[in-house]
Amino acid sequence: MPLMLVLNHLHFKLFFTMRLLLSNLAFVLLLNLTCSPTYAQNFMSNPTGRNTTSLNGTWKVIIDWYNRGNQLKIYQDRKASKPTEFVEYSFKQPMQVPGDWNAQDPHLFMWEGTVWYKKEFTATPKTGKRTFIYFGAANYFTEVYLNGKKLGSHEGGFTPFQFEVTDALQDGTNKLVVSVNSQRKEESIPAMNYDWWNYGGITRDVSLIETPANFIEDYFIQLKKGSQNEVEAWVKVNGMNKSKKVNLSIPAVGINKVLETDTSGYARITFKADLKLWTPEVPKQYDITLATDEESVKEKIGFRSIEVKGLDILLNGKSVFLRGVNFHEEIAKEMRRATSDADARSILQSAKDLGCNFIRTAHYPQSENLVKMAEEMGLMIWEEIPLWQGIQFGNPIILAKAEFMLREMIRRDKNRASIIMWSISNETTPAADRDRVLTNMAATCRSLDPTRLVTSAFNHVKTDGNKTILEDTLSNVLDVVGINRYMGWYKAWPDKPGTMVFESKFTKPVIISEFGGEAKFGNHGTADSAGLWNEEYQEQLYKDNIAMFKNVSFLRGITPWVLYDFRSPTRMNAANQDGWNRKGLLSDKGEKKKAWYVLKAYYDSIK
Ligand code: GCU
Repeated sequence: MPLMLVLNHLHFKLFFTMRLLLSNLAFVLLLNLTCSPTYAQNFMSNPTGRNTTSLNGTWKVIIDWYNRGNQLKIYQDRKASKPTEFVEYSFKQPMQVPGDWNAQDPHLFMWEGTVWYKKEFTATPKTGKRTFIYFGAANYFTEVYLNGKKLGSHEGGFTPFQFEVTDALQDGTNKLVVSVNSQRKEESIPAMNYDWWNYGGITRDVSLIETPANFIEDYFIQLKKGSQNEVEAWVKVNGMNKSKKVNLSIPAVGINKVLETDTSGYARITFKADLKLWTPEVPKQYDITLATDEESVKEKIGFRSIEVKGLDILLNGKSVFLRGVNFHEEIAKEMRRATSDADARSILQSAKDLGCNFIRTAHYPQSENLVKMAEEMGLMIWEEIPLWQGIQFGNPIILAKAEFMLREMIRRDKNRASIIMWSISNETTPAADRDRVLTNMAATCRSLDPTRLVTSAFNHVKTDGNKTILEDTLSNVLDVVGINRYMGWYKAWPDKPGTMVFESKFTKPVIISEFGGEAKFGNHGTADSAGLWNEEYQEQLYKDNIAMFKNVSFLRGITPWVLYDFRSPTRMNAANQDGWNRKGLLSDKGEKKKAWYVLKAYYDSIK
């Protein structure tokens, strides 16, 4: 973790005060200045729209059982130079990248520690070109070396990071060595005790990206907040010569605009355009090109407006009900992280088959290819950073880490029409520290992206007889309030489901961001409380919750927990769970449980 995060409490107080004083950008600069210069750089947006060489495939690994790798300098990948010399490590075992190590080696099924990866690749550095190594994600703490030299580190398992290697790249064979540590820590995000499998490793694509000397590092092209025909765009050029003419074109609607970046490489523009708006039913995207005299970057982008008006969520000015579902980034039947386009398509198609127009990619930013595919397939997204339950909000380090992850999430996905809301946390306990940190996060969200909604999922709600009262004051800083409410599972019905009422202290749209119960596929029996774990019980639970929802006047969406059964080390009921959270509507093999049909019928009825 960057040097600054080991700053002592006093330094951090000073730091925090300066944070409030300085603008977000200055804050990041300050972080970068005080962080060890080797912390991962701001990554470029849209890596796949650039001159990219994949480094995916078979890498070689060393399992560092006792974390001795640094001491042994494994990053040097030394070989004995003479018979009398010995080196006590060598890269031999193959490991697929992207992919978690847990699913690839039975010895690593539960491994939470360090694994060293090595990949050799050939390269020919070109004059006037720059080269970057880009990681889609690696869980959790990663250190990267090229040809024995440290490039830097990154913390967080679900967001991209990159390093410039223009100077470190050799003509010919290059040796990339990466150590990944997946140990859970009190001060990490998520922290110690989360309800999903801690898949470790380089879990997303790795690529070499070649750019010109001055390149378009980042850009934002979306409809202005509240508008359906005014596009707001900015570009950021990185390089010695930051003052550039950048041509933005949307050929399909005859748009050709020139942005002239200033000496900081920045330019902004607003213009009118007659665009067909993106909707789940018609997920229209436009081919966009950004070109300078040195390069052109292409991307498909959809345009839609998303707002809140009173209790309504307006998509393109019309009130919408979010028919959603939660899922983890996992291919359950193979007990592994989802990594490929095919994986993403299979999960998203299951959501579509259920009648969804909305998904909650719980509880962390899932892969960029999944988010892009959701835009193509017409699914709106609630995207979240893993501030999940037991976070040490009183720990001075947490705000900066959480902000970093939030910035990375927004940086990666800000051009996605599919993403309609950013979630800053899940099920955190109301407290002054929590409120301070999350209030800051909400402000950061809006300063980075004024076009989307800010939300969070709460589970601290009050019950008074058959009344559920939403009163978590953090709702004041949100646009949409998410409520996790497990009626009929963690919470018994105080009365007939149809008689339950909800009361909210806030005039805001509410989403029931989690509800549901466990059933092992194939377990059959009664639907009453004696039938826990069987499909009939879960089926009835869905019917009851849907009956309850009909009374909630400010309800504007639901995302049941959960699409598929998923792996969780915290689920230890041997007969029914055995390491699985069984709240899926689909079993780990994709079999439809009875509750699946209840929700499908409900979604078809409200379409
Ligand atoms: C929580 C939590 C989920 C968890 C679920 C459950 O509300 O947000 O991550 O898996 O409940 O208990 O099944």
